Amino acid sequence: MTQALYLKWRPRRWEEVVGQQHIIQTLRNAVAAERVAHAYLFAGPRGTGKTTTARLLAKAVNCLHEDPAQRPCDACEHCQAVNDGRFLDLIEIDAASNTSVDDVRALREKINFAPSQGKYKVYIIDEVHMLSTAAFNALLKTLEEPPPHAIFILATTEIHKIPATVLSRCQRHEFRRIPHQEMVDYLQKMVEAEALHVTPEALALVARQSTGCLRDAISLLDQLASTGQDVNLETARAVLGTADNQAVAEVIEALLEGEAGAGLERIHRTLDSGSDPRQFARQVVEYLRGVLLVQWGNAAQVDVPAEQRVQMARHAAKCSRPALLQVIRAFNEAASETRTAWQPALPLEMAFLDALNAFAGESPSQEAPPARQVGAGLPSGRQVSPKDAAPPKRESAPATPSRAAVPSAAAASPQGALFHQIVSQWKRLVKLALDVDSPVASPVSGLLNSGKPLKLEGEVLVVGYPSDVLRERMADPEYAGVAEQALRALTGQKLRVECVVSASTRKELPAGVNSDGMVATAVRDLGGEVVDMQ
Ligand SMILES: Nc1ncnc2c1ncn2[C@@H]1O[C@H](COP(=O)(O)OP(=O)(O)OP(=O)(O)O)[C@@H](O)[C@H]1O
Ligand SMILES: [Mg+2]
Ligand SMILES: [Zn+2]
Repeated sequence: MTQALYLKWRPRRWEEVVGQQHIIQTLRNAVAAERVAHAYLFAGPRGTGKTTTARLLAKAVNCLHEDPAQRPCDACEHCQAVNDGRFLDLIEIDAASNTSVDDVRALREKINFAPSQGKYKVYIIDEVHMLSTAAFNALLKTLEEPPPHAIFILATTEIHKIPATVLSRCQRHEFRRIPHQEMVDYLQKMVEAEALHVTPEALALVARQSTGCLRDAISLLDQLASTGQDVNLETARAVLGTADNQAVAEVIEALLEGEAGAGLERIHRTLDSGSDPRQFARQVVEYLRGVLLVQWGNAAQVDVPAEQRVQMARHAAKCSRPALLQVIRAFNEAASETRTAWQPALPLEMAFLDALNAFAGESPSQEAPPARQVGAGLPSGRQVSPKDAAPPKRESAPATPSRAAVPSAAAASPQGALFHQIVSQWKRLVKLALDVDSPVASPVSGLLNSGKPLKLEGEVLVVGYPSDVLRERMADPEYAGVAEQALRALTGQKLRVECVVSASTRKELPAGVNSDGMVATAVRDLGGEVVDMQ
């Protein structure tokens, strides 16, 4: 069997490590000056070179080359032994399978023996965050007073799980994701050296898909090369299960237009043609990140064809930043969700519905998901009565259980009188807002005038707006504060204002739609429309 590319291409000299120059330079200097520390912590994402660098350091401190600046030489007896995995003084411990305090104690007993082959005994402890607290404490004792011949290199992907007491005793280096262009260049070098036939577009796709993890990128390239054919963008997509950008853009379009049915249908079509749901979620995140950057005025940083940038700009103009961030979070979750293997598309669908909600102007703390005006199938400008805005029943929203609204019958009557007063005296409230001593009193009065009280939940008054722009302005704490003072003047009560976009009304389900299903949720609660049924 041929060796996996990522093993074959494990760097043997400092120069071969890519994307981590800041770390390599420091370590090289230390080796050249023969001033290597006794404890290092290498932190960073998977597959970015932590173990590789640790082994290089182990090699360097034991290398027999007479000029310290040339270590590791990769040619002497010791360097060769490390390469072949038979150097006795390099001890690699996987903390994930040796988590106990006894394991660390055993290590501590052995550590006092002098190195048998080289100058230093080097301990690489991988996944060190997996150690138990007791094991950490035992390790700490060793780190406090290591014998002069010992060097510890701890590696972790989760630095936040490392106790501060350990951190403070190590020289810390943070590995970063490999930047896109450096990765592409590196892959290109491999392609040439291995005489593979892979187009630059396909390589760029591989690099993007591996999100900065070089090992993943190399494995993907390996996978592509193993097809034995010339690999272009199209074959790469087919093999890697990547949807084309058009599918992503169409899903975003559907989200922004509030077209739940069309969006879900597009997602399913994409998955049916072989895309991987998590991968698709990642592509959506990648796209929306572009939209976010465009919105921030950093369009130049978005590395996509000009035509796609124009599309991103158009989408950027259609959504508010908080909603966008929320949507990115939702899809990001779907991209990293691994638990629902029995229903692989579910996290993606849930993210989609959450995203619809967010773009419809709802924040997670609000209970009733209001439908979006656009695409809701309602005549525009239609006013919503409080009755219409009743929250959907829990069982109608199985896809978003955490946000499903519970209709509170109890809250309805005690509070009914107060709510009735607010509704009937709304015009008066509009005037009272003008009396509030604030620079924004007048715009708030205007905004109240275009809003509509929908319901009272405890001390929270939910006000509906016909558009997200208005809703967002009113949600500004300063604005809401003025409205709350006016409300106090009107009712004598301390109430909070929450704003939603409201074109909501519970729509009838088309025949043949399961009333408990996701489509029902999309239609009834999110304003979706069924375009086609098979
Ligand atoms: N910065 C890099 N430069 C060159 N090759 C790299 C780099 N990072 C990773 N690789 C490639 O990926 C393989 C795995 O890298 P390595 O084992 O060092 O990753 P790691 O950071 O220790 O990952 P993990 O956290 O999963 O242990 C290497 O054999 C090499 O082929
Ligand atoms: Mg590693
Ligand atoms: Zn050497």
